[in-house]
Amino acid sequence: MEQILALPHGTLAWEDVGPHRGSIPVVLLHGFPHDRGLWSAQRSAHETAFPDTRLLVPDLPGFGRSAPLARPGMDGYADAVAAMLDAAGVPQAVIGGLSMGGYVALAFWRRHPARVRALMLMDTRAGADDESGRAKRRELIATVQRDGVGAIVDGLVASQLGPVTRERNPALVERVAVMLRRAPASGVVGAVQAMIDRPDSSGTLETITAPTLVLVGVDDALTPVAESIAMSAAIRGSRLVTVPDAGHLAPLEQPQVVNAAIAEFLDVAVRDA
Ligand code: MLT
Repeated sequence: MEQILALPHGTLAWEDVGPHRGSIPVVLLHGFPHDRGLWSAQRSAHETAFPDTRLLVPDLPGFGRSAPLARPGMDGYADAVAAMLDAAGVPQAVIGGLSMGGYVALAFWRRHPARVRALMLMDTRAGADDESGRAKRRELIATVQRDGVGAIVDGLVASQLGPVTRERNPALVERVAVMLRRAPASGVVGAVQAMIDRPDSSGTLETITAPTLVLVGVDDALTPVAESIAMSAAIRGSRLVTVPDAGHLAPLEQPQVVNAAIAEFLDVAVRDA
């Protein structure tokens, strides 16, 4: 069911799925420039994959049905997630994020550690951009401001989806393109600037004491497996899962494998913690 919260910057929308009693809720944070549709395969398989788990799946500010922040940043996105938890009556949750959602999850850990029961870092990285990465992002902002979001969709689809998905699953390729095309230009520009400005989170990894799942598509071209191996090595006791035949959007590309990995993590690492 969709929930809407009025925040000082405007509305925040999220999907609230599953039982409100029982196990610890799970928050799923999408990447760039997605919306909560990124997690559609987790929401739709909810009753079979995670029947006892409440899923909270927001549109991050500036995407989907959530208003943009006046000054977008990973800290601001993380605080919007905390406000969502307040509104949902959830003191503590498993915080999961993909790519940019992972940057937000790490910011959430720094700002609200007592609210984190566990972390799931998917297809993401801890490091900040280097100067050439920042320059590419500035070009992306200029393209969106000049030509609109549509101008960056084909490039993003090609880089975000793995070769197996692009060759064998044209329906998913089209669904992802539709999701990217509907991203508002203001949200896209704000998020790119927020990623340019984001801090290096490498030092954060050794501070993580919550159980952590690090998951990555084997064919992820944007945040390659090596990034996840390094992240997992730096987070004490974390578990690493690699997903065959998936690129950067593993939860959409191989939902059964990812859902099983999440369910096992919740069972073993979270419920028994
Ligand atoms: C994402 O999927 O969120 C992006 O690949 C993140 C990024 O561009 O760093």
